[in-house]
Amino acid sequence: MDDTPFLDRRKARASDAVFIYPWFSSHLDAVMWAGPKIPDPLTVEWLSSEFRSAVHWVWVDDDDTPQAMFKLIDKGRGRAHLTRFAIAPAMRGKGLARGMMQEIADEAYEAGADHLTLNVYHSNAHARRIYDQLGFQLVEENDSTGDPGGPSVHMRLDLEG
Ligand SMILES: CC(C)(COP(=O)(O)OP(=O)(O)OC[C@H]1O[C@@H](n2cnc3c(N)ncnc32)[C@H](O)[C@@H]1OP(=O)(O)O)[C@@H](O)C(=O)NCCC(=O)NCCS
Repeated sequence: MDDTPFLDRRKARASDAVFIYPWFSSHLDAVMWAGPKIPDPLTVEWLSSEFRSAVHWVWVDDDDTPQAMFKLIDKGRGRAHLTRFAIAPAMRGKGLARGMMQEIADEAYEAGADHLTLNVYHSNAHARRIYDQLGFQLVEENDSTGDPGGPSVHMRLDLEG
């Protein structure tokens, strides 16, 4: 039986934060998701304010409950930077990530970007494998001094229509 859920994508609302906050059960989980600048502890209030202050995207189920999310930052010169990509723990391992990454790339392209960048930790082998398979290229090793997530890399994907 195919249990792949049908998810719709929309812009995140402050009220989504209460559903997304429990996806990260430790500070390290939160760092793996969103990098070393994520507050410790992560709070619903902080996430709500982030959703209010800049566009984040969520995929929602039939009940309008978020099941995945990401943020795209326009860095100028054709560069869209992907951050905060995550799938709800109960939805992981269903093969959703690649299709979502394709949607993210399409969203970036439609917003005028010609390349997409992201950072990923060496220890996040699962995410790295997805990005490698989608054709992301290694740009450089990041300076990981003081980063609780350890070494990470900066990657890039050239976008085509
Ligand atoms: C990274 C993340 C989005 C991937 O989503 P997912 O639903 O688990 O991924 P999928 O089910 O689509 O799996 C994609 C591939 O990873 C493989 N995979 C699944 N679980 C794995 C694991 N624990 N370790 C290594 N590979 C794994 C799958 O087999 C599949 O590869 P294949 O098609 O070649 O067999 C999700 O794990 C997540 O939200 N992680 C926490 C936040 C995070 O790390 N975000 C990325 C920041 S850079």
